[in-house]
Amino acid sequence: MPDTTHEVVVADSTDLSFVASSSVQLVVTSPPYPMIAMWDDHFRTRDPAIGRALDAHDGAAAFELMHRDLDRVWAEVHRVLCDGAIACINIGDAVRTLGTRFQLHPNHARILDAGRRLGFEVLPAVLWRKTTNAPNKFMGSGMLPAGAYVTLEHEYILVLRKNGRRLFVAPEAKARRRESAYFWEERNVWFSDVWDLRGARQALAGKDARHRSAAFPFEVAWRLILMHSVRGDTVLDPFLGTGTTVLAAMAAGRNSIGVEIDPAFEAVVRGAAERLKDEANALIRARLAAHEQFVMQREREGRPLGHVNRIHGFPVMTAQEEDLLLEVVDRVDPGSGGRFTVSYRTARAPS
Ligand SMILES: C[S@@+](CC[C@H](N)C(=O)[O-])C[C@H]1O[C@@H](n2cnc3c(N)ncnc32)[C@H](O)[C@@H]1O
Repeated sequence: MPDTTHEVVVADSTDLSFVASSSVQLVVTSPPYPMIAMWDDHFRTRDPAIGRALDAHDGAAAFELMHRDLDRVWAEVHRVLCDGAIACINIGDAVRTLGTRFQLHPNHARILDAGRRLGFEVLPAVLWRKTTNAPNKFMGSGMLPAGAYVTLEHEYILVLRKNGRRLFVAPEAKARRRESAYFWEERNVWFSDVWDLRGARQALAGKDARHRSAAFPFEVAWRLILMHSVRGDTVLDPFLGTGTTVLAAMAAGRNSIGVEIDPAFEAVVRGAAERLKDEANALIRARLAAHEQFVMQREREGRPLGHVNRIHGFPVMTAQEEDLLLEVVDRVDPGSGGRFTVSYRTARAPS
């Protein structure tokens, strides 16, 4: 397939005027989480009224003002997405005591509301179960009813769509879609509304940068890209952090644009891009090996698969997988000014 290009831009995503309207096919992102203390300083710099609300222990006002800042980015996301395109927004709710008042701040509901007001269609969300080793499953009043509350063990991946289903009309667009098919057995796991990604590979950035940015695991971005875009599309992350979405787009054969306000992350993304090839290709080989296991299992059960993939020659479950193409990363070329070009070659199926 043709090379893909990737651009990392240091900018404030409330103004994405350098991205043309209706030019992006998928957004995968995770904003700073309102009312989570690690993002307080960030939001205080965005609007002094936020600091005043926090200092006055007015949680409801602080929550709303933080979301108004994010709303400006969602408006830009809506503008740059083309019809039928999807935005996947990873967000967790916040629980917090301000003054004497403890309460949940429902970030996911507030973002869905903003999305609906912008004209997005809300599609079913994914509940992403996070690993928790905490022995105390609840907080509040020990063993005595009432007043305890359950532990938040999940985050959301909200799924918003602009203007109905995406159409693939031209023969070339149809062909790219067929090449971008995923395996039947992957579909059965990925399209569940509960994801348990224990053991997922972390983002490629080092531990310190991941912690500072609250990076999501590589597989979250990668899976969303494979599910909701086709090869050659452009994927945008307006809150790029350590660059996970751009790196996952490189691995998946999509173009990408990542926007990050903190210039310190530029070097982090560049370092991770240099390490991408081995990491990405291990993931693609793992995908092939998992499919091989699935094929062998079905054969052992006397239920062999009924179709053959035309490119790789392995059996597949459905006719839709016959043109499925898997490619590994051949080269990542860092250009100047935050640009990268990635080239690919066809993956070899395990023999
Ligand atoms: C939750 S982190 C994203 C982490 C990312 N998904 C990763 O895997 O590393 C949110 C990021 O958005 C950035 N950010 C916050 N407001 C922004 C804005 N208005 N424009 C661009 N970036 C912003 C923060 O600096 C932070 O790095």
